[in-house]
Amino acid sequence: MSFSKQKILLAVTGGIAAYKALELTRLLKKQGTDVRIIMTKSATAFVQPLSFQALSGHLVHCELLDTEAEHAMGHIELARWADVFVIAPATANTLAKCAHGLADDLLSTVYLATTCPVYVAPAMNHVMWNHPATQANLKILQNNGVNLIAPELGEQACGEVGFGRMAEPETICQRLISDLAMPKILKKLNVVITAGATREPLDPVRYLTNRSSGKMGYALVVAAQQVGANVTLISGMTYIQPPQNCHFIQVETAEQMHAVVFETIKNCDIFIGAAAVADYRPVQMRDEKIKKNADQITLILQKNPDILADVAALDSPPFTVGFAAETNDLAKYARDKLVRKKLNMIAANWVGREEGGFERDENALDVFWQDGQKTLAMTEKSELAKQLIALIAERFYTPH
Ligand SMILES: Cc1cc2nc3c(=O)[nH]c(=O)nc-3n(C[C@H](O)[C@H](O)[C@H](O)COP(=O)(O)O)c2cc1C
Repeated sequence: MSFSKQKILLAVTGGIAAYKALELTRLLKKQGTDVRIIMTKSATAFVQPLSFQALSGHLVHCELLDTEAEHAMGHIELARWADVFVIAPATANTLAKCAHGLADDLLSTVYLATTCPVYVAPAMNHVMWNHPATQANLKILQNNGVNLIAPELGEQACGEVGFGRMAEPETICQRLISDLAMPKILKKLNVVITAGATREPLDPVRYLTNRSSGKMGYALVVAAQQVGANVTLISGMTYIQPPQNCHFIQVETAEQMHAVVFETIKNCDIFIGAAAVADYRPVQMRDEKIKKNADQITLILQKNPDILADVAALDSPPFTVGFAAETNDLAKYARDKLVRKKLNMIAANWVGREEGGFERDENALDVFWQDGQKTLAMTEKSELAKQLIALIAERFYTPH
C-alpha cells in the first residue's frame, strides 16, 4: 500500500510537546494520508481539540464512555480502522498504562484493541525518561512489538538538557514513510523463521539451555512482514510476545523444533534459522528429580538433529539462511558452516564481547554467501533485521 493510502490514528497525550503533534498532523495530511486524532484528557489541557479538528478535517476523539461516539467511531471501530497507530507525544504515564494493559481511557483501550503496527514517540523530562520504571515499561512495549521513535538529546521545556525531547515531527513522518512505504519485496513469499533457545530437559525441574533471548529472530519476523512476507515463527522459549499476524508455533526441545520445521517447510520459499538450537540433549530425561547425593555426576549427551543442514539437504530446499555465534575466528567458522551445511547465506556475530550479541538490544553481523560478504554495523536489532531481510531478498532474487 502506498503511504498516501494509509489510515493513521494519531494519539496525543498530555505533555508540552503536544503542540508538535499539530505539525505532525499537518505533515501527514500533506502526504495524502487520512489522519484521525485521539486526545487524552490531559492533552486537551495543552492544546485545543479544535486545532486538530481543523488540521485533520475530522472530529477529535477524546472520550471512551461516549454514547455518541459509540454509534459512530467507538474504540473498537477506531482500533479496526487504523492501518497504523501512532502515539506522539507519549507521556511516561501513557507508556506505563499501555505496558501494563490498563484500559481506563480511549487511548489505552484502543491500544489493547488494535492489531495494527504501533509507534510511540516519547516526550518527557530527562529524569523521567531515565527512570528505571519508564525504561522497564519501554522494554515491555518493545518486546510486545511496539516501535520506538526515540526521543532526542537537547534543551527541554524545563530548561534542562538531556534525552527526552520528542523526535521532531519531520523525523516521525519520515520514519513512518520509510517503514510503511517499504517496497513489498517479499510479497506472497512464505518465510519460516526459527528463534529463541531450545530447552533440553534433564529431570522434571531442570533443563539445559543457552542465553539466546530470541530478540533477533522476532525482529526478523517483523521486518519480513513489513516487506510483505507470510511468516511462520517457530519459537523456542523466550520472554517476549510473538509479533502479531504471524503463524506462531511454540516448541521446547530441538527435536520438537526439528519436527515442526519439517511439518511447515513444504511451501517455504525462505528459511531463516535464527534459533539457538542445543547441539546436544541429555540421553535420558529422568522421571524424578535428580537428588544431591553424589559429589560428582556424569551427564551423557546425545547429538541433536541439525535442523539447518537437514533443511538445506532437502530435494528442493528453500533459500536457507543460518546464524553463527562465534567467540573467535568468526569469518573462518562462519564460512566453514556455510559450505559444510550447504547454506545460501550465514549471518555471524561475535559473542563474549562487550557489544551486541545475546540478551542485548543491539548487534552487528558479518554476513557471508558463496561469493560475497557484507558487514552490517552495530545498531538496534529491529534496524539490523530490516537490513538483513533486504540483503536476503537481494540474494534470493539473484540466481543461486
Ligand atoms: C506543565 C506540564 C507539563 C508536562 N509535561 C510532561 C511531559 O512532557 N511528559 C510527560 O510524560 N508528562 C508530562 N506532564 C505530566 C502529565 O501531564 C501527567 O503525567 C498526565 O497524567 C499524563 O496523562 P496522559 O498520559 O493521559 O496524557 C506534564 C505536566 C504538566 C503540568
